[in-house]
Amino acid sequence: MKFFICNECDKVINLDTDDIELKCCNKKMEEINLSNEDNHVISLQRLGNFVNIKIDDGKHSMNNVHKIVFIIIETSEGYHKKYLNSEESLCDFILTSNEVLKRIWCYCNLHGLFMMEL
Ligand SMILES: [Fe+2]
Repeated sequence: MKFFICNECDKVINLDTDDIELKCCNKKMEEINLSNEDNHVISLQRLGNFVNIKIDDGKHSMNNVHKIVFIIIETSEGYHKKYLNSEESLCDFILTSNEVLKRIWCYCNLHGLFMMEL
């Protein structure tokens, strides 16, 4: 999966492909690479089909200046994406019975893109 950002409006999108040119605000969107920092800890709890994902144990900053923008889980069947709008840096997903978790991605507007391989 590839992630791209508009350096004008900070919009971030994700795509399965990178063979198209993406534009936003009349400028080419730039690909985002994984952050080199290790200051964001992704954790998960799975109970049956229910998955709870936390970033920094749910305590990452969630104000307009510094927040987790979204969390994506990649599974054997595709992707699930949620934008975070609460005061806690966590969210829940429900999987189908045979769906296998592969990766978890999260994007912090200040520190960038993080991924955990499962
Ligand atoms: Fe952060």
